[in-house]
Formats: sequence, C-alpha cells, structure tokens
Amino acid sequence: MGSLKGKDILHGNQFTKKEIEAVMKVAWEFEQQLKKKDVLPLCKGKILATLFFEPSTRTRLSFEAAMQRLGGGVISMASADSSSAAKGETVADTARTVEQYADLIAMRHPRIGSAKEAADAANIPVLNGGDGAGQHPTQAILDVYTMKKEVGSLKNLTVALVGDLKFGRTVHALVEVLAQFGAKLYCVSPSLLRMPEEIITSLRGRGIEISETDNLKQAARASQVIYMTRIQKERFQDIAEYERVKGAYVINQEFLKGLHQKITIMHPLPRVDEINPDADSYPGAAYFRQMRNGVFIRMALIAMVLGKR
Ligand code: NCD
Repeated sequence: MGSLKGKDILHGNQFTKKEIEAVMKVAWEFEQQLKKKDVLPLCKGKILATLFFEPSTRTRLSFEAAMQRLGGGVISMASADSSSAAKGETVADTARTVEQYADLIAMRHPRIGSAKEAADAANIPVLNGGDGAGQHPTQAILDVYTMKKEVGSLKNLTVALVGDLKFGRTVHALVEVLAQFGAKLYCVSPSLLRMPEEIITSLRGRGIEISETDNLKQAARASQVIYMTRIQKERFQDIAEYERVKGAYVINQEFLKGLHQKITIMHPLPRVDEINPDADSYPGAAYFRQMRNGVFIRMALIAMVLGKR
C-alpha cells in the first residue's frame, strides 16, 4: 500500500476513502494477529516520541501500546510542565529537538494548528493527537472502524453527533471521515455549542445531508449510531456559559428503553455525566470496545507512515 509512507496525520479531511479503507484493513489484520501473538515486530528499532502538552489517558497510552506491540520503542513527555515548554520553548523547536531522537511524533497541544507547526518544523511524521478545539484525526479513524465493526457496514449510515460540537475536536475530525462514506448526519447540541458554520457549509457543499437540532430523542430514533461527547469545560472563556449547558444531554438505561430500535452508543471518553454507567450493560454500548480499537488503528497508522506496511 505505502500511500501514507512519510506522511503527517494532521486533519480528518486529508484522507481519501481508499486510504481510510487501507488503514482499517491493516488494523483488522493486526487485530486478528494479536489474538495469537503479543508482538508483531514490524517496527523493531524504531522510536515513537509522544509529546503531550495537554491531559490524556487513552490517546497517549494507546499510541505507546501500539508502538510497543509493533516491537518499537517509546520516549515520552507526558506534560508541558515536565518539558522545556515550561521554559518558553516553541512547538517548532521542540519538534526539531525530538526529531534528533525519534522516528515519528504523536502529539497533543492546547492550541489549534500546533500539530501543523510541529510537522512543518520536523522532517519526521507528526501524528496529531488533538490540537485544542481543532482536530483529532486518529480518533476519527478508530471511530469509523468501530462503527464498521459494530453496525456491520459503513453504507447508508446515519449518525447522531451529540453534545459539544463547537469545541469537540473528535467530532470535527469525525465528520470529515464520515463524509467520505456519504453518511447522513444529525448534529445535536444546545444552540451555544453548534458545529462550526464553516464545517457545516463545507460538508453540505460536498453533498452530505446534515440536520442540526437540539432534540436528541428525535435524532436518535432516526440513527444507527449515537456519538456522545463531553462538554469541553476547559475551552470555555466564560464559566457561566458552561454552567448553562452542562448536563444538556444524558443517555441512560431509561432513554435506551424508550428507543424503538437497537442502536450503537459511542463516546471518545472521558465521560462526565453524559452517559450514565447504568447504560454500560446495554449490548450496543460500544465505548469500551471503541478504546481497544484505538490500539489497532494506531498500530496501522504507525506502521504505514513508517513505510512498514
Ligand atoms: C477526547 C479528546 O481529548 O479530544 N478524548 C480522546 O482523545 N479519547 C475527548 C474529550 O476530551 O472529551
């Protein structure tokens, strides 16, 4: 395949449908092989640097687990305070430093566009693990991989994206990837947290059917997948605004009983109160399986950008 060799992974809109399918195919192979083996040593001798200037559990640990499952090594900077960023070093200089030590970078930073700055500065691949309220492309691919596995097919998919569509980088990246598969989208949010106008306009321009609503029940009844998101408290300038919208949508057992169809429930996690733990035993509650898929997808992306697949 090799089409991602040497590439940065920065934005959900950078992929063709073929590329997304190729990543999912490699991830699926890895997933099957890992049932029999602990390590698939395709990236032996290679080093991944994880640079996380913002909190993370799943993204950093799954990148690191992915590299180790590929037989590679990991060096890690788990917080901005523990690095020279605390002394005022720019993202570009940090990236130029790290390329002396590692073969690729996975990074997360609070500022939109920061991953692109690192990618422009460094000659090794940079994988964006979240740039502020911007993008989170590796999450988007693991999300569609999860939809494919849970629903059975990505054809004629209808997805309700729910919660903080304004600041949520996971949904900003996910809609770009879903658009490649012609999915029909419901954007469900309080009016304060609507999906940015430029994203809606661009998707409509590409022929994607999108409805905006604040009614979760209605959208859920028309969908095969509900993608819940956390209200991104840390991105609010005015905490009073956060107080007004927090707890806007909650999925619980009672809500699920009220639906007429089986549905897949996803969430990039962490959750606050938008999915009640009493929904976890629902067969379509896929968010724990979704996390595990992150390892296979990140393995595929690492192997492909390093030219090992
Ligand atoms: C998300 C993120 O960091 O954007 N989490 C993740 O990567 N799995 C979602 C969030 O923080 O709400």
